[in-house]
This record gives sequence, structure tokens and C-alpha cells, in this order.
Amino acid sequence: MQTKILQETEIQQAVQAIREGGLIAFPTETVYGLGADATNPEAVKAVYAAKGRPSDNPLIVHISDEKELLPFVKPISLKAQQLMDHFWPGPLTLIFELKEPDSLPSVVTGGLNTVAFRMPDKAITRELIKQSGCVLVGPSANSSGKPSPTLASHVYDDLSGKIAGIVDGGACTVGIESTVLDISNETGLPEILRPGAITQEELELVIGPVIVDGHLVDSNEVPKAPGMKYKHYSPDTPVIMVPSDTLSSWQTASREYLSVGKRVGILANEMILSQLMKDDHLVTYSLATKRDVTQAMTHLFAGLRHLDHVTPKLDVILAECYPEIGQGVGYMNRLKKASGGHIYLEKK
Ligand code: TXA
Ligand code: MG
Repeated sequence: MQTKILQETEIQQAVQAIREGGLIAFPTETVYGLGADATNPEAVKAVYAAKGRPSDNPLIVHISDEKELLPFVKPISLKAQQLMDHFWPGPLTLIFELKEPDSLPSVVTGGLNTVAFRMPDKAITRELIKQSGCVLVGPSANSSGKPSPTLASHVYDDLSGKIAGIVDGGACTVGIESTVLDISNETGLPEILRPGAITQEELELVIGPVIVDGHLVDSNEVPKAPGMKYKHYSPDTPVIMVPSDTLSSWQTASREYLSVGKRVGILANEMILSQLMKDDHLVTYSLATKRDVTQAMTHLFAGLRHLDHVTPKLDVILAECYPEIGQGVGYMNRLKKASGGHIYLEKK
């Protein structure tokens, strides 16, 4: 199959492919998604196959209008309505109780009695959903285990030949996947299953107390979002987190590897990059113009992909850490997964 890169003006071709049960990658503000008709089990199975994704991992269903939820979920609670009014369209996924066990094919829900919905903040993708006349599953459009794609070219690198097309909507502005909030248990508190750009504090301002899934705090806990248990976001080159933002720590860390002939990639803000000593074995990628977690989040996955593809291959990627507060929670969640938790410890 030849994978077409479609411009926004060529959306009709994408609509046609979706209606025929085909796979189309679409842009969103978070990352690119791999779209297929969520009501067509064969199309959804093909999504899992193209990504090489474990089939017990449920998918997020993407909608263009709140009304599209109604055939699939139990009556909308007050909190759910407040969240939708405040954050949709935007990078928040909500987990609802399914209306009936067979309201959606079990390949979408992983056989759970709940289902995840999101309305992306990208007009062309809402238009694609509307014109296709069906709601769309949309896992991140990467091969399972690779960093999520934030450019059409990332999708092409992973899935070319396996999907009908990619709608090119430019670079994603948020850069990590949506916050996943479980509001399906009306007697318990809403629970963050995956941290993202919308923070616990922002959610609490709208609906009051929100709890955080224990596995995000304690690595021995089993995650409640099935997808969070898999190895994720991981480039082939080893990634090591550098916990300090002082220039001397970055000098020491990079020297330690360079001095033994290693090739080193640095993923950090420009204040750090501009002051590092040049070296033939040193390759840098700018996460942000200054120390700023929102900017760093936008460029994290693109930076990991870029440094992973440098030739000759790098031996190690050193990446900047942020405090785990606000958006730093989501940023560090992805960086910890990419690095397998490896952290640079300065020798005293
Ligand atoms: O930003 C995003 O959310 C992107 C864009 C393309 O919209 N999509 C995305 O989808 O990240 P995916 O499939 O890669 O991640 C979905 C996450 C997984 O961790 C999955 O386990 C969880 O949501 N999930 C889906 N349905 C669930 C459910 N019913 N209960 C608990 N977790 C669920
Ligand atoms: Mg994913």
C-alpha cells in the first residue's frame, strides 16, 4: 500500500478512505493519531496490526461534537459536563461508563465497561470526523514502543506502506498525549490515569478534588490505564536524565562520556546548549529557548526521534529534567519512560 501525504485541502480523500474502513493518520494538538471508524471492528483491528499494539489496550474515541457521545455513554454527569464545557476541544480525555456492553465493538474498549472520549483541538480533524459520519479511534500514530509522532514525517517513518494516508497538519503544539481522567465511577473521586498538559490543579479548579492513579506515584502499583503498563516512548539510543539545571553539571555529564570516546546527544534548553563546549562527538537538540516546561513538552518527542536517528549513531542521550509539579508531572512521566528511569549521578 502506498501511504499518501494529504494536505488539508485534500481531506475528501481521507474521508473516503475512512468510510471504506481504511486507516488515516490525523493531526491533533497533542500528537498525531491513527484514525479509523470506531464502529467498524475490522478497521479497528487493522489499527492494532499497523501499530503492532497489544490488543488488550483500549483506544480513545475522537469526536467533533458533544452530541456524538450520546449513543455510546450513560447520561452525562454534572462534573463531566463542566469538564467538557471548560476543556473541550482540548488535550483532555474523559473515561465514561458505556451505555450498553455492545455500544462499541470490544476491540475499541478492550472489553471494559468504560470508554475513553476526546475532542481534539484541531479544526481539520474535527472536520474529518464530521464528514466521515462516524467517530474515530485514534491511538498515537507511532509503531508501538516508539515516541509518539508530533510531525507528519514521524508518522511516515513508522507507518509508511501500512496505512492509506496522513493528513499533514504541521507540528503538534502540545507535544505529549492528552491527560486521561476517569470520571466513570460517580461514587468515587475523578482519577488521573495519565498526566498531560492539563494539570491536576487546573482540573480541580473546575470540579474540585481529583486523585492520581497510584502507579504514577509508586512504581510497584499496577496502572489503571492498560496502556500505561507497556514500555513506551523509547528510542533505541539509551536516554539518561540529568537532574540538575546548573551548567557545571551539564559540563561534567557530557565530558564524562566524551572523554571515553562516546558520542553524546544533548536534549536541553538553549541557555544550557549555548554554553556547552563544542565537540565533534556532541550533537544538541533544543527543547526550549529558556528553562520552560511547556516548551520542553512540545519538543520532547521530536527531540528524542531526531537524536535517535543521528548517523553515526549516538551512544547516549542526556536529557533535561523538570520539577514534578504542574506540567512537569506529564513531562517527567514521558521522560522517565523514555529513559527507563536512568538518572545521571554526578561523581563527587
Ligand atoms: O493525545 C492523545 O490522547 C492521543 C491523540 C492522538 O488523541 N491519543 C493517544 O491514544 O494517546 P493512545 O491509544 O496512545 O492512548 C490511550 C490511553 C492508553 O493508555 C489506554 O490504556 C487508555 O488511554 N485508555 C483508553 N481507554 C481506557 C479505559 N476505558 N479505561 C482506562 N484507560 C483507558
Ligand atoms: Mg500511544
